[in-house]
Amino acid sequence: MAEILNTGEAMERALALLDAGQILAIPTETVYGLAGDATSGTAVARIFEAKGRPSFNPLIAHVSGLVMATEFARIDPLSEKLAQAFWPGPLTVVLPLLAGSAMHPLVTAGMDTVALRMPQGFAASLIAALGRPLAAPSANVSGRISATTAQAVAADLGDRIPLIVDGGPTHVGVESTIVKVEGETLRLLRPGGIAAEVIEAITNRPLLRDASAGIEAPGMMASHYAPDAGMRLAVAAVQPGEALLAFGPRRAADWETAATMLNLSPSGNLREAAANLFAFMQELDRSGAATIAVEPIPHAGLGEAINDRLRRAAAPRPA
Ligand code: TXA
Ligand code: MG
Repeated sequence: MAEILNTGEAMERALALLDAGQILAIPTETVYGLAGDATSGTAVARIFEAKGRPSFNPLIAHVSGLVMATEFARIDPLSEKLAQAFWPGPLTVVLPLLAGSAMHPLVTAGMDTVALRMPQGFAASLIAALGRPLAAPSANVSGRISATTAQAVAADLGDRIPLIVDGGPTHVGVESTIVKVEGETLRLLRPGGIAAEVIEAITNRPLLRDASAGIEAPGMMASHYAPDAGMRLAVAAVQPGEALLAFGPRRAADWETAATMLNLSPSGNLREAAANLFAFMQELDRSGAATIAVEPIPHAGLGEAINDRLRRAAAPRPA
């Protein structure tokens, strides 16, 4: 089983593992990441292997700031403005890859663009100390719910990795928002921890959401966050024996017939709901109920990312 060390005591061991091309789980503000040296093919392959993730899926490379980003990508003024506004934080920008950069092609799945973000806290210090970017998808087996605690990582990947760095529960709780600048156009490739409206306000332009974005970010596969239980979304009424994922102060009809209930945010706060989302889905899944009924979540702000994750969890499963 993986060793679990707190952020205060893990730095040296984490650096030694990364230098040896090994992978480990680290906390970020969004979700736990399964991290490896993004310039090492062995390390990146280990990530795919541990996750059981389809290899056509490109990974986010985490950097220690804009200076490191410029070693790997060509940064246009609008992307730079976004990075300055939101880094360190839950924003990923997709940028043209610099030809001849040390980024391993497994990270970008061979594409000529690279997704970069600067995370908060231990992860940023680790990257700065290593001096190289870290490829880090969410630290869960492919297709399962993203881990927001070290314990959730251990349950999922504990027998496949040597070290889990424990930074406590992540405070954002959903993955980063992914955007891409295309000329004058700003595209939303994945809704996430920074609300689209906030990005629109800072850049003073609309974030385009279109169907083709789903193809461009292949991680947006239909069934990406799949619990064992079936999912019913935006329920008006609960059916007997269902597990209820509630939201806000008002209950769906027949809520008393639920086998068990967790409320993402009793006060109706979407940030609190995002932070609780994956852990509550996992807990309801563990209850053994055949179906998780989910109350309607408003689509504004972080609600867009929450509803996106819920839709994926409810999507038909691959056979
Ligand atoms: O919050 C996060 O972003 C977390 C934490 C650990 O930082 N990381 C994360 O990484 O969610 P991952 O690998 O699970 O998600 C990567 C997403 C996928 O949807 C992938 O398809 C997309 O980023 N992506 C990566 N490179 C891309 C590129 N060059 N163009 C478009 N999409 C890209
Ligand atoms: Mg993931």
